[in-house]
Amino acid sequence: MRVLGIESSCDETGIALYDTEKGLLSHRLFSQIEMHAEYGGVVPELASRDHIRKALPLMQQVLDDAGLTQNDIDAVAYTAGPGLVGALLVGAAIGRSLAWALSIPALPINHMEGHLLSPLLEDSPPDFPFVSLLVSGGHTLLVDVRAVGNYHLLGESIDDAVGEAFDKTAKMLGLGYPGGPALAKLAEQGVSGSYDFPRPMVNRPGLDFSFSGLKTAALNAWHNSDQSVQSKANIALAFETAAVETLVIKCRRALKQTGYRRLVVAGGVSANQSLRQALNALPGKQVFYPAMRFCSDNGAMIAFAGAMRQQAMKPDMPAIFTVRARWP
Ligand code: KG4
Ligand code: ZN
Repeated sequence: MRVLGIESSCDETGIALYDTEKGLLSHRLFSQIEMHAEYGGVVPELASRDHIRKALPLMQQVLDDAGLTQNDIDAVAYTAGPGLVGALLVGAAIGRSLAWALSIPALPINHMEGHLLSPLLEDSPPDFPFVSLLVSGGHTLLVDVRAVGNYHLLGESIDDAVGEAFDKTAKMLGLGYPGGPALAKLAEQGVSGSYDFPRPMVNRPGLDFSFSGLKTAALNAWHNSDQSVQSKANIALAFETAAVETLVIKCRRALKQTGYRRLVVAGGVSANQSLRQALNALPGKQVFYPAMRFCSDNGAMIAFAGAMRQQAMKPDMPAIFTVRARWP
C-alpha cells in the first residue's frame, strides 16, 4: 500500500509518499520560516495562503521523485489537527479532494500521532510497548504507547510547551524566530553554573510539566544582568540545562512507573543535542529518535501514521471533512 501524506498544520508544507513494503519513497518540505521571521512568529493567514501555493507543486515533485503518478497512490493521509485551522483546511481540502477523485481512502491524522510514530520510520525501530516523550512547539506529552492507536497519556504541560518556552526565552534574548535552535546554539558558549534556574514540578509526584516559570526566571535573570553577550549565553545555557533536566527526570519517572525499558522521543525539541545526550545516559534504557530531518514537522510522519492506521484499521476520526485546532 502506498500512502501520500500531507502536513500543513503550521508553517511547513510537507508532502511524502510511504510504501508499506518499500518504506519511504520520497518526501519534500517547504518551510515558511523566512516569511514569518519578520513578524517574530507565525502569521496564520499568511501560512494558509502559502500552503495553497506550495502543496500541489510539492506533491507533483514527490510523485516525480518516486517515478509514480497519482494513480499509484492507495490512500491519502492528511494532518487534521491540532494546529492552525486555516492551514489545516488547506491540507484537508487537497487531501480529501484527491482521495475522492481517485476513489481511495482519505485518512485524517493527528499531528502528534505523526510525531509519536516518526521514530518508527528508522532502520531499527523500537518494539511496542514504549514510553514516548513528545516535545514540540505546541505540546509536551508523556505517553504510554502499547500499540498503534493504543495511547495512554501519562503527563503533559499545564502551561507552556517546552518548545514554546525555548522560543519565548529566545525571543526575549533577541534571538529571533523560531528561537529554539538559536538558543541551543548560543548555550554552547555559556559558562555552566553561572545561573541556577528552577526545575519546575520535579518535587511533586506525577508526570505533568510546567515551563512558564522557567521562562520567567530567565527573563528576570536577563533584566538583572549586565546584558552582555556572555550573560546572554550563560542564561541560554542555564535555561537549556533546567529544561533538559526536568524532561529527563520525568522520563525516568515514567519509565519506572510503566516498567518499560524503551523510550521514544519525538517532535521539534528532540533535535536538541543536550537533551539527546542526557537521555542517552539513562542507565539500562534504550532511547529512539527520529532522523534529524524528521524531528520537526514533515509529511513523512503523516504518510507513515496513515499507513500504520490503515493497516491497523483504526481510523481515529469520522470520515468527514473537518479539522481540529485542539485535539486532546
Ligand atoms: O514539532 P515542531 O517542528 O512543530 C510543532 O509541532 O510545534 O516543533 C517546533 C519546536 C519549536 O518550538 C522549536 O524552537 C523547537 O521545536 N526546536 C528546538 C530545537 N529545534 C527545534 N528546541 C530546542 N533545541 C533545538 N535544537
Ligand atoms: Zn509538530
